[in-house]
Amino acid sequence: MTFPEDFVWGAATASYQIEGATREDGRGQSIWDTFSRTAGKVIAGDTGDTACDHYHRYADDVRLMRSLNLGAYRFSVSWPRVQPSGSGPVNARGLDFYDRLVDELLKADISPYLTLYHWDLPQPLEDLGGWPHRDTAYRFAEYAQAVHDRLGDRVREWTTLNEPWVSAFLGYGSGVHAPGRTDADAAARAAHHLLLGHGLAAGALRAAGARGIMLVINSAPVMTRAQVLDPDAEVSAADATAIELTDALLTRQFLDPVLLGRYPEAAPAARHALDGDLEIISAPIDLVGVNYYNPCVVAAAPDAPADPAWPGLRGVAFHDLPGIPATAMGWPVVPHGLSRLLVRLSRAYPRTGLMVTENGAAFEDHVSGGRVHDEERLAYLREHIGAVADALEQGADVRGYLVWSLLDNFEWAEGYRRRFGIVHVDYATQERTPKDSALWYRDVIAGNRL
Ligand code: FCB
Repeated sequence: MTFPEDFVWGAATASYQIEGATREDGRGQSIWDTFSRTAGKVIAGDTGDTACDHYHRYADDVRLMRSLNLGAYRFSVSWPRVQPSGSGPVNARGLDFYDRLVDELLKADISPYLTLYHWDLPQPLEDLGGWPHRDTAYRFAEYAQAVHDRLGDRVREWTTLNEPWVSAFLGYGSGVHAPGRTDADAAARAAHHLLLGHGLAAGALRAAGARGIMLVINSAPVMTRAQVLDPDAEVSAADATAIELTDALLTRQFLDPVLLGRYPEAAPAARHALDGDLEIISAPIDLVGVNYYNPCVVAAAPDAPADPAWPGLRGVAFHDLPGIPATAMGWPVVPHGLSRLLVRLSRAYPRTGLMVTENGAAFEDHVSGGRVHDEERLAYLREHIGAVADALEQGADVRGYLVWSLLDNFEWAEGYRRRFGIVHVDYATQERTPKDSALWYRDVIAGNRL
């Protein structure tokens, strides 16, 4: 299978997961600094204080990207580096770092895909109420404007938010992510204000001349166990209702307001919309980024208990998939879920192109003789890139594929024990070793074919 000529190939990372240097050059503190230093929140008490030391090693890392033929690099800007208190004056030294990074990427002929928010909210804004507090949306748009003022002459691809479902419902609902609150109502408010912040920022970026504006969501096809084994399996009426409701909360709660200007009826975020909000939220965007790891497997279950990560969900149970191979995260490997998802999103929102902005897998890796033979990751990537090819053949409008992640890094509440990189990082020496999957991916990119 050959991919379209202008198909974008790349890799993704996020600021708190790789940069380190959490107290340098005037950077303020984020909710992840606070959360990771709170006992019991992150496995082994890991923090992002050093991470991959990318803040100091970015030039070498860009050389590495170049050697892997990457055409695009998706990274995020740390809001507290740019605005240590979350509002007001800009910390020029913080922006200097991204300025250097962008120049280095452009010199290497790699397109910067800049994400404004990948979960590191300035702690002072959380202290004022965080995303459940409406003002945060306005602060986000001001910050977006400040970053664009500095980098808009060179960065063409702008993402407002990464995975607002996760920020809202894991950050404020289940509390497994920062800031670790467990309040379903606050989570629903956060979801609406994240969307409002997205719309305000998208409007401000557009007014400033930006063209490639994207929202990145964590999406998944919602399916029954039987459909995982056989995509054409029949689904009972009760299961179909469970699927529809789950999908409305996971995907449509975010894409319908942005792309269609309305919330699905079931969305708890809708309760917090004021007059005029949906016009702001539905500011035109250019692409939707889809992060896919595994399907969401459900069944109707009238007595299922309420889940704080899923306000609005009733009568649905989540299932695991015994017998299906899984990654080190325990996430089942279901490549056909990605084709299903891309085809479905392209049909539901035909005016907006898609990009796979994250896909990848954690496995136990070992360096031996300067090599990492990560056959399982290589197979995962091959099968999922194949699924993208299938989706293209079925008419889905997919513009590119970015692997998660370039480097092993700080995997949030899982700390450093989960390795998602196509490049191995030895955290004691900061040595980088491209894994076999990276070398394979380099050749896929060179040939633009599988
Ligand atoms: C996604 C996140 C990313 C990474 C992967 C494994 O939800 O966007 O930062 O942690 O999962």
